[in-house]
Amino acid sequence: ARTIKLAVVAGDGIGPEVVAEGLKVLDVVLAGSDVTVERTEFELGAKRWHETGETLTEDDLAAISTHDAILLGAVGDPTVPSGVLERGLLLKLRFALDHYVNLRPSRLYPGVPTPLANPGDVDFVVVREGTEGPYTGNGGALRVGTPHEIATEVSVNTAFGVERVVRDAFARAQARPRKKLTLVHKHNVLVNAGHLWRRTVDAVAAEFPEIAVDYAHVDAATIYMVTDPARFDVIVTDNLFGDIITDLAAAITGGIGLAASGNVNPSGAFPSMFEPVHGSAPDIAGQSKADPTAAVLSVALLLEHLGLPEQATRISDAVTADIAARDGSPRTTVEIGDALAARVAG
Ligand code: NAD
Ligand code: IPM
Ligand code: MN
Repeated sequence: ARTIKLAVVAGDGIGPEVVAEGLKVLDVVLAGSDVTVERTEFELGAKRWHETGETLTEDDLAAISTHDAILLGAVGDPTVPSGVLERGLLLKLRFALDHYVNLRPSRLYPGVPTPLANPGDVDFVVVREGTEGPYTGNGGALRVGTPHEIATEVSVNTAFGVERVVRDAFARAQARPRKKLTLVHKHNVLVNAGHLWRRTVDAVAAEFPEIAVDYAHVDAATIYMVTDPARFDVIVTDNLFGDIITDLAAAITGGIGLAASGNVNPSGAFPSMFEPVHGSAPDIAGQSKADPTAAVLSVALLLEHLGLPEQATRISDAVTADIAARDGSPRTTVEIGDALAARVAG
């Protein structure tokens, strides 16, 4: 028998709606097995901030850290100044728990609507660096509100940080049949960081002779993602480029409602965190219009990470079947969750 200690941060907007369906499917997939889940819900997000001014305290962080994994819905709310929750809650979790591998797989499931005429066989994973780049908060603003305002956001790239994520991406490429890795950056302009990334990829490549290594500038990568996404297998890229191209990747593979992600600390020193790629979607929040599939697939990534690949596959198979059976008629968040739970139950 095994007990998984799961921290749940449902968050804002559609976060709680989609997380409820993710947990529903999790309960079903583990029912009758010797694995039980001990859940702790953390009330974090807009409501907490309005009530207390807190985003994520050191006590919250310490309590979350004692769990085996985290399931997160989404954070961000129009009533809270932009950046407060995003930086103070979500990024604080990613940084404090050293989630340096932000794993964002994209697969075009059979029967999924795509805006692409000839998508080909789309199955790639973006390994997005999760703790550095322009996200670290280095920079500042001078003479704010004057005609002489100066605003800087500094991209931090360390040899240590780049090497560990590049190594992880190579190892993932090695474990995949196509054995291809594409570095996405912009070394023609961002010469300092770009050359560090490039040299690091070249150096690690020497240890992985079976991997075909490729490079695309991020602007060109957005072209290929639309014209020829099947060319990608593993993409390794920095925090901001990875953010942008994974929304595009979602858009070509059935939409943002299907895209799942993992914020992984491969060492296991800290719990990894699984969440949909999408945000709190204030435009549809509270209307049961959100597709919970991304949250459900994030639960599958969580189970795989915790060494329960059979349960993870049962969930992704249920999603594949559900998508194939879609006929375009609208379903509520709960109806989709129920349908997935029923398929998982068999
Ligand atoms: P968003 O991803 O919330 O929404 C973008 C569009 O996608 C919207 O039209 C929305 O309705 C739609 N959408 C998103 N999820 C969907 C789902 N499950 N089913 C159907 N449609 C869905 O991005 P945004 O509008 O740029 O940001 C809204 C808020 O969320 C902001 O506060 C932002 O900072 C935050 N955000 C949080 C995360 C996160 O928690 N990981 C990620 C992205 C954005
Ligand atoms: C995401 C989001 C976050 C990011 C924001 C909300 C901090 O867009 O998870 O993709 O930029 O990483
Ligand atoms: Mn994003």
